[in-house]
Amino acid sequence: MKIAVGCDHGGLRLKRAVAEHLAAAGHEVHDVGTHGPESVDYPEFARPVAVGVASGEFERGILVCGTGQGVAMTANAVPGVRAAVVSDTFSAAMATKHNDARVLCLGERVLGVGLALECVDAWLNSSFEGGRHSRRVAKIEGGS
Ligand code: RB5
Repeated sequence: MKIAVGCDHGGLRLKRAVAEHLAAAGHEVHDVGTHGPESVDYPEFARPVAVGVASGEFERGILVCGTGQGVAMTANAVPGVRAAVVSDTFSAAMATKHNDARVLCLGERVLGVGLALECVDAWLNSSFEGGRHSRRVAKIEGGS
C-alpha cells in the first residue's frame, strides 16, 4: 500500500518508528517530514499528507504530533478526508470498519511505541464495512 507519513517535532520519533514498521511490512512509505527535532508548525506537514490522500496519490496517511489532535484537525479541514485520533486498538479498527478513516493520527506524548504500532496494524488490517456506514460517512460532508 502507498502510505504517506508526516509529523511535527513532537511526533518525530514515533513517526520514524511507524515508517520503519510500515516499510518492514512491505508498504511504500512516503515521508513528507518533518525530518529533524527543530520546532515546526504541524499544519505544514499534516496538510500535504491529507491532500495526497484526498487526491488519491496515497491510499492512506499517518500523522503524528504530540497529542495527535493538531494534525487531525488539520487533516479533517481538507475536503474528503476523514482523520481519526486513536489511542487504543479497538478505536483504530473501528475507524476503518465504520468510519472509513484513511488518515490515522497518533500522539507521541500519549502512546508508547508498542501500542502505537498495534493501533497502526489494527487500522490498516481492517476493512470498511460499507452498508449503513457508507450512508453515514456520506452525511459527514453533507451528503443525503
Ligand atoms: C507541539 O508542542 C504540540 O503542540 C504539537 O505536537 C501537537 O500536540 C499539537 O496538537
